[in-house]
Amino acid sequence: MDFNIKSGDPEKQRTGCIVVGIFESRKLSSTAKKIDLISKKYLSNVIRRGDINGNKGQSLLLHHVPGMIADRVLLIGCGKEKELNDCAYNTIIAHSIRALKATGTLEAVHYLTELNVKGQTHDWKIRQAVQVAGHALYQFDELKTKKKSPTRSLRKIIFTVVTRRELPGCEMALLEGKAIANGVKLTRDLGNRPANICTPAYLAEQAKGLAKQHRSLSVNVLEEAEMRKLGMNTLLSVAQGSQKPPKLIVLQYKGGKKSAQPIVLVGKGVTFDTGGISLKPSPAMDEMKYDMCGAASVLGTILAVAELALPINVTGVIPTVENMPSGTATNPGDIVKSLSGLSIEILNTDAEGRLILCDALTYSARFNPKVVIDIATLTGACVVALGKHASGLLSNHNPLAKELLNAGKKAGDRAWQLPLWQEYQQQLTSPFADIANIGGREAGTITAACFLSRFTKKYHWAHLDIAGTAWVSGRNKSATGRPVPLLMQYIIDQANNNGTR
Ligand code: BES
Ligand code: MN
Ligand code: ZN
Repeated sequence: MDFNIKSGDPEKQRTGCIVVGIFESRKLSSTAKKIDLISKKYLSNVIRRGDINGNKGQSLLLHHVPGMIADRVLLIGCGKEKELNDCAYNTIIAHSIRALKATGTLEAVHYLTELNVKGQTHDWKIRQAVQVAGHALYQFDELKTKKKSPTRSLRKIIFTVVTRRELPGCEMALLEGKAIANGVKLTRDLGNRPANICTPAYLAEQAKGLAKQHRSLSVNVLEEAEMRKLGMNTLLSVAQGSQKPPKLIVLQYKGGKKSAQPIVLVGKGVTFDTGGISLKPSPAMDEMKYDMCGAASVLGTILAVAELALPINVTGVIPTVENMPSGTATNPGDIVKSLSGLSIEILNTDAEGRLILCDALTYSARFNPKVVIDIATLTGACVVALGKHASGLLSNHNPLAKELLNAGKKAGDRAWQLPLWQEYQQQLTSPFADIANIGGREAGTITAACFLSRFTKKYHWAHLDIAGTAWVSGRNKSATGRPVPLLMQYIIDQANNNGTR
């Protein structure tokens, strides 16, 4: 899909479709009002017949509106004008894009970016519209023999800015929206690809592919032998039940000064999580192909950062394995020595995410990071606590936590902080090793983060548990691309505040 921006009057648009709004109850948006005037009350007359009254979710397609050179005018119900907040705006845009897609138009000029959204700038509205449109148009049909897409399909959407003066400022918002949408799409595609395609080796190839596309990127993949030499025994203990060799992917983006400390992103890349010998029950086990969504979000974020050529350094570290039961798999009770030197009693082989992350987090210290953020589909407990609306956030540095929470709020990709108090640490006590890999029934998300915190003492660190947010289940099962928008907002803010160039 091609996205662009422009300013201009609706009657001058030679295009397939003009998109405008109508609020409850029957109040026209400002461009809709203009069209109504020019068309000598054509819209008012149609509306008076009762075909649309402005409720959210409604739409009405009009052809041959007098005075317009555009083929169609699409009226979109925007709900109550007073209730137009971030979330309502996103819903309205998504709905308008789906309605557009159902028409035969190839191109549209979209005026809903003129709506007043409480506390938001025009930049934000443009960027958000591009992202939401990208999201709404997404479909994953590469593995179907018959594609859903019709022959005539929407190719270009032009969002409008109110005055010409705003164009240059919004140009950056357009670029950001496109880059984030591309990062989200990559993350979703990788998540949706099944585990017989998306293997650890496949993820490594993807990272190499990105580095080929962008000169600012370089990649290094650590193979099993190298990891063994380094002493990444915890990571390897998860991989040893599988036929598929594990990888540790290091993808570096250099856009800042050579000396500038990088933001390090560590993504959990379990390409399938059967639970290992602590086997999971079979219902919905297919969804454990999504257990690499943390890894996918790191690749998606770094792609977007590279596309925007941000003046900052970002390093992605991706431990990737498959968690299988087999004759060579780790047994519950096995004790391994991690890269950090701590010995770990693996009481449950299904708590494998933390086992691959701990070695990757220890390894990350060598990059002299400004901060380290890990992203992981880590605990079912997080889905119970926060559902699918917020990612769990835990951190050893409160200012970093606050920055991430704010970024999530701005991007409409929210996180919610849970405590990492000392009191919880004792749940990880083991009678035989330095630490156990599970902490009992209570506070599962917190004890998982406590486990990770034992390996992150050397730097400022935050952990995002995306078990509830990385994909949606049910009939429309799909990866969401979260938390790429949150991470991108954080990185953009960092690049702007502390110009590292
Ligand atoms: N990948 C799962 C977490 C998960 C489960 C994410 C369901 C999304 C939906 C993780 O590896 C896991 O199995 N965690 C265990 C930890 C437990 C054994 C302490 C869990 O949450 O049950
Ligand atoms: Mn597991
Ligand atoms: Zn897992």
